[in-house]
Amino acid sequence: LKKEIIQTIDGSYTLFVPELDETYHSKHGAIQESLHVFIKEGLQFFSKQNELSILEIGFGTGLNALTTLLEISNSKQRIKYTSLEAYPLTFGEVEKLRYTDLALLKPFSTEFELMHTCEWNNFIEITPEFQLKKLNIKLQEVSFRNQFDLIYFDAFAPQVQPDLWTEDVFTLMYKSLKPNGVLVTYCAKGSVKRALKAVGFELQSIPGPPGKREMSRAIKC
Ligand SMILES: C[S@@+](CC[C@H](N)C(=O)[O-])C[C@H]1O[C@@H](n2cnc3c(N)ncnc32)[C@H](O)[C@@H]1O
Repeated sequence: LKKEIIQTIDGSYTLFVPELDETYHSKHGAIQESLHVFIKEGLQFFSKQNELSILEIGFGTGLNALTTLLEISNSKQRIKYTSLEAYPLTFGEVEKLRYTDLALLKPFSTEFELMHTCEWNNFIEITPEFQLKKLNIKLQEVSFRNQFDLIYFDAFAPQVQPDLWTEDVFTLMYKSLKPNGVLVTYCAKGSVKRALKAVGFELQSIPGPPGKREMSRAIKC
């Protein structure tokens, strides 16, 4: 699919897919969304845990992996980060978004390139504290069991890919998590919240990033 680069309101760039009429991140701010939804309301929930296993749905531009690396750079945390991507981007496409031009992210430009160019299907040491395993498979095909502390659920919106926000998929996510595991997503749609509850999650509706009233955090109790 064809992609165009657009600037979001916080100044950071994202990709727009005209055929889907959908962006890779919030138009209100790509970096702001990543830092709020996945880091502040997800990763920081586990700040006292030294070893953490994360599953991301949709590696895409790698922005969430990058903000995760930024977040742990001043802590003792070690992360095993597994990320699914059905339709990988090239580093050439991602580079144009200039995420590592930002002062905050500049120290990680070598690591960010490695995240994109490293091999798939195996854990790769991006830094001694951050291991990345990219899997070129579809979300609907996973069969993880009690493996992850945290899921970054960052698929395209339910209007665009309704088949990724179903009870069947959320059952797979529930099984993938360890007890007390957490799934965070930017989405706060009624039907999505009902589906998450229906498969057994305890749901918390919490304030979203700027421009978005609400987001969801689902806990495997
Ligand atoms: C909203 S984008 C966000 C990606 C990424 N987290 C980022 O920050 O750039 C959703 C991503 O999910 C990927 N995707 C679409 N269908 C998928 C599927 N069935 N399984 C896994 N990933 C999928 C897309 O290619 C896209 O990269």
